[in-house]
Amino acid sequence: MVKPRLIAMICLAVGTVLAGCTGDDRAAEPSDSAAASSTSASPGPPAPECNDPDTCTTRQLADRAGVTLGTAVDASHLDELEYRDTLLATFNSVTPENELKWESIHPGPDEWDSGPADEIIDFAREHDLQVKGHNLIWNQDLVDSTPDWVLAIDDPDQLRRVVTEHMTTVMTRYRDSVDRWDVVNEPLETIGSGLYDNHFRQVLGDDYIAEMFTIADTAAPGEELWLNEATVEYQPDKAAALVSLVEGLVEQGAPIDGVGIQGHLVAGTVDAAALGQLVADLEALGIEVAITELDIPARDPADPLGVQASTYREALGACLAERCREVTLWGFTDRYTWIDATFGEGLAPLPFDRNYQPKPALAAIRDQLTAVGEP
Ligand code: G3I
Repeated sequence: MVKPRLIAMICLAVGTVLAGCTGDDRAAEPSDSAAASSTSASPGPPAPECNDPDTCTTRQLADRAGVTLGTAVDASHLDELEYRDTLLATFNSVTPENELKWESIHPGPDEWDSGPADEIIDFAREHDLQVKGHNLIWNQDLVDSTPDWVLAIDDPDQLRRVVTEHMTTVMTRYRDSVDRWDVVNEPLETIGSGLYDNHFRQVLGDDYIAEMFTIADTAAPGEELWLNEATVEYQPDKAAALVSLVEGLVEQGAPIDGVGIQGHLVAGTVDAAALGQLVADLEALGIEVAITELDIPARDPADPLGVQASTYREALGACLAERCREVTLWGFTDRYTWIDATFGEGLAPLPFDRNYQPKPALAAIRDQLTAVGEP
C-alpha cells in the first residue's frame, strides 16, 4: 500500500508531522562490526587511478565509474577537519545546501551576501569538485527560500525584473564554477499532482515555469538548466504529472536540460522498479536525470541499518540502470541532517554516523559504484 509510505514521506518532506509519523524510535548506532571498511584519503583531488575497488576511496570508485557522487554541503562545517576529510574521500560533487538560495544570497532588494556560497565554491575549486547550483526559484507555504520582499511584489513586470536581476547576478557570479542550476524547485503540489499555487504562479500565470527557464537562459546563455522535484517516488500520479510537465516544457522549446528526482526516501518503502521507470520516462524526453537529495531515515525496527543499506542500494540501482549517472546525497553524516531539525534526532538518514563512522549504507553505495566501474 502506498498510503503509509506516502504519510512517512510527506512527514519527512514537508516538515509536517502527520498521524503515525514519529521520530522517537532512535535508530541503533552501528556496532563496530556493522561499520563497513572505508579508506579515507588525504584531502585533495583523487589519486589519478585506483584499480583495486577494495582499496579505492569512494570518490575514486565514483570517478572510476564515471558517476557524479555528490553531497549537500553546509559552509559552516567546512572548518571541521573530519567533515572535510570525509567529504573529500567520498564525493566528487557538492551542492550548497542553503547558501545559493534566494533568502541567503539576496536577502533584500539591494542586499547581497555571497560569502557562504563563495566559501563552498572556493573549496570545490580547490579540490576539483563539481558544484550544483541549488536553487533559483522555490516558493511553497511550508518550506521555501523566497524572501518576503519578493513575495510582496504582485506586479508581473516588476517581479520579472527582480527575477531577471537575481538570476543574472547569481548565475554570472558563478558562471565558471557551477555545472548546472536548479532553476525551479518543487513546482508541483507536495501532496497531489497539480501545479503548486505559489507566488510566482499567482503573479505570472501557469506558464511561469517556462518563463523562469527562459529568463535563466538569457541571464547565463549555455548554462545547464534543471527542474528539481520531491515526493514523486511515492506518488504515481505526481510522477506522471512531472513527466507530463517536462514533456510540455520540452515541446514548447523551454531551455530545460535535466530533472532532479530528490530522493527523500524512507528505508524499506521504495518501489525501486517504479523509480527506475520514472527515470527512464524522463530520459526518453531527451533530458538528463539525477537523484539530487538522497537521504533515507533508518526506520525499520528490526534491522534499521540493514534495511537502510538495501534502500540506498535500490535507489542507486534505479539511477544507474538507466543513463542516470549522478546521485547527490542531502548531507553525508547523521551529525548534520535537516531531518533532525524537522523531525527530531535519531532517524539517522545518511551513510556516515554522527562520529563519521561508515554505516552499511556506505558499503551499499560502494558496491553499486564498483559494479558500474567494472571494465
Ligand atoms: O541561517 C539562518 C540562521 O541565521 C538563523 O538563526 C536560523 C534560525 O532562524 O535559520 C537559519 O536558516 C535556516 C537554514 O536552513 C540554514 O540552517 C532556515 O531557517 C531553514 O529554513 C533552512 O532549512 C533548509 C530548508 O531546505 C529550507 O531552505 C534546510 O537546511 C535544507 O536541508 C532544506 O533542503 C531542502 C532543499 O533545499 C529542497 N528540497 C527539500 C529539502 C529539505 O527540506
